[in-house]
Amino acid sequence: MSVHQKEDNRKVTTHRLFEMKQRGEKISMLTSYDYTMASMVDAAGMDVILVGDSASNVMAGNLTTLPITLDQMIYHGKSVVKAVKRALVVVDMPFGTYQAGEIEAVQNAIKIMKITHADALKLEGGVEILDAVRRILDAGIPIMGHLGLMPQSINKYGTYTVRAKQDAEAEKLISDAHALEDAGCFALVLEKIPASLATRVAQELKIPVIGIGAGGGVDGQVLVCNDMLGMTNGFSPRFLRRYADLNGVITDAVKNYIADVKSCDFPNEQEQY
Ligand code: KIV
Repeated sequence: MSVHQKEDNRKVTTHRLFEMKQRGEKISMLTSYDYTMASMVDAAGMDVILVGDSASNVMAGNLTTLPITLDQMIYHGKSVVKAVKRALVVVDMPFGTYQAGEIEAVQNAIKIMKITHADALKLEGGVEILDAVRRILDAGIPIMGHLGLMPQSINKYGTYTVRAKQDAEAEKLISDAHALEDAGCFALVLEKIPASLATRVAQELKIPVIGIGAGGGVDGQVLVCNDMLGMTNGFSPRFLRRYADLNGVITDAVKNYIADVKSCDFPNEQEQY
């Protein structure tokens, strides 16, 4: 992090993300789902905090992102927004809240924005959801698109492997990306696609393109907080860099506490009234 970034405590806006892309400054983005984690992530200087529907996996222990509800996402969104002073907060619209029609989509989008006070929403999909995207944008709600691997469609794919390796899927992704930009989305997430394709999309689009498993040629990077902090076990995709081993740290701390309780070492004279 440069000295300039450290001192810049102004609230991040969609416009400022656009300016970052224009001057070639990479955008940092990380998920958070609760108040305590979001306070730390924001204080560290993160540009964008995503209240991802990955909360379904890492918070609720579901196998996919599909079961998480609108009210659960609102709960997580509210908790995060309360903690954040600087970062732009984006909340994922969960599966089933925007695919059935644009009226339902805009009603659900307004509900999330009204209750959480988030800055923007993220939706998965291209031309198939364009009517909903337009309707939500018309209501004045900024949207971040999401293409490539779209976890809400896992039952259609049947696998979490890299997407858009074949020409036809890559061409569709490129045209979807343009359609989302033309509709007015302020940014786009590309998940688990070949780096060369992601680079091409980032070069063709004026809006910032944030990658996860999409290589270094895009305008920023996003990871799931619990994965990059080493809290989760048994998930090691090639794109994931672990910056800590919190699973080990927490397990050791808890073991020490158990041992201290069992041995009557805790509490001591100073730790009681
Ligand atoms: O839900 C999530 O965490 C996401 C990121 C993987 C981009 O959508």
